[in-house]
Amino acid sequence: MPSVLACINTLCASSFSIDEVIYTCPRCGALVEYRDEGLSLDPHQSAKLWRARRMSNLPVDQSGVWRFRELLAFANPETDRIVTLREGNTPLLDAPRAAAYAGLDSLTFKHQGFNPTGSFKDNGMTAGSTVGLRLGMKRVACVSTGNTSASMAAYAAAAGMTPIIFLPHGNISYGKLAQALEYGALTLQVEANFDQILALVRVLADELGIYLLNSVNPFRIEGQKTIMVEMMDQLDWRLPDWVVVPGGNLGNISAFGKAFRELKAMGFVERLPRFAVVQAEGSAPFSDYFRDRGEFQPVTSPETLATAIRIGDPVSWPKAIDAVDSSSGVVCKVSEQEIADAKAVVGQCGIGCEPASAATLAGLKQLVASGQVDKSAAVVAVLTGNVLKDPDYIFKYHTGQLKTPAGALLNSTFGNAPVVVPNEPGRIADIINQRT
Ligand code: F0G
Repeated sequence: MPSVLACINTLCASSFSIDEVIYTCPRCGALVEYRDEGLSLDPHQSAKLWRARRMSNLPVDQSGVWRFRELLAFANPETDRIVTLREGNTPLLDAPRAAAYAGLDSLTFKHQGFNPTGSFKDNGMTAGSTVGLRLGMKRVACVSTGNTSASMAAYAAAAGMTPIIFLPHGNISYGKLAQALEYGALTLQVEANFDQILALVRVLADELGIYLLNSVNPFRIEGQKTIMVEMMDQLDWRLPDWVVVPGGNLGNISAFGKAFRELKAMGFVERLPRFAVVQAEGSAPFSDYFRDRGEFQPVTSPETLATAIRIGDPVSWPKAIDAVDSSSGVVCKVSEQEIADAKAVVGQCGIGCEPASAATLAGLKQLVASGQVDKSAAVVAVLTGNVLKDPDYIFKYHTGQLKTPAGALLNSTFGNAPVVVPNEPGRIADIINQRT
């Protein structure tokens, strides 16, 4: 059975060649996904092979995505040029202080901020840009709350394609904008929100023959799938009870669900871990859906200081619902204050992350308090972005100046403001002795 792009709508069930440039089903409009139905791997042999590749100096083996290339058979390193910046390879970090904060006995972070451009987007972008190159695309585009654009700009530059980036004007952190500029992207700041711009870009991409690298691109999801495979390799294939992830456009949770679906079908694991998806209160359509179980209702004016997840109409919601349900998972939402404080606690672990990532710890604290997550559970929380992505937020939090989108001042609960001192050794010594 050849690999195909398959419509996820079971009533339609159309499939298309992987060389067609489609993101949704041309027949019914539903999302499509990559499927390699003939794939069958020996779990023991594959796990051994993937581990052994860590010793290799080949670029495709050093990539924490292409190391698992049997699961990504839409590209062939023998015949396709693989665009890699050695993405993936992100650590599992134990964080006792964060565990105590959440009320857990232990907690492990999988820190995607260790990626080349500082977020999990690199795992997907290596796959999406490799396919773009194979399809002969000259220009690639995305709308982004920041990280996708930073990642796409880097991978397009590395591949020799031209990156075109659409950003919601005024709602992106400088760290991310700076990356897009530095990697040479044509950067368009549009006076609209993420959801409105995505609709615009989908039309423009079709008209101008530009390859779209948002997470609606099925190959991005394939690359992000390997985050879970790498995690399992790092855990020596012992399943955690929970995997916790922030939810924005819902590409990541869709990818994680697909990873485990495939691993289970091939006998690598016997069941799925339970997924917990955490959203920011002002941008929480997915969480509201799980509360009410009615129609999926987008949020028209999403707000949150965690700008990475400031999304009201997430494209991947049908895949994401399936991922959560098939894992007996849960979805919750957290306040701006909860995100800000959790973020500072991740910092106190010596780990650090960007605001959206800290939603995981904030969500866990809630889920442990409500009894949904057992305190002795084995939990991996995915930190999606690097601490340096949003320094402005950090400075404001620690100096008591961080305000919600509505203008309310947040508590600087774990604030750590810099101290201005005169050039006088005695006074400085006093301050050091008082404070440490
Ligand atoms: N965390 C960070 C740091 C992100 O940048 C994003 C998404 C998410 C979480 C949410 O992931 O969309 O897969 O549910 N950022 C996108 C962007 C939307 O444009 O960079 P998701």
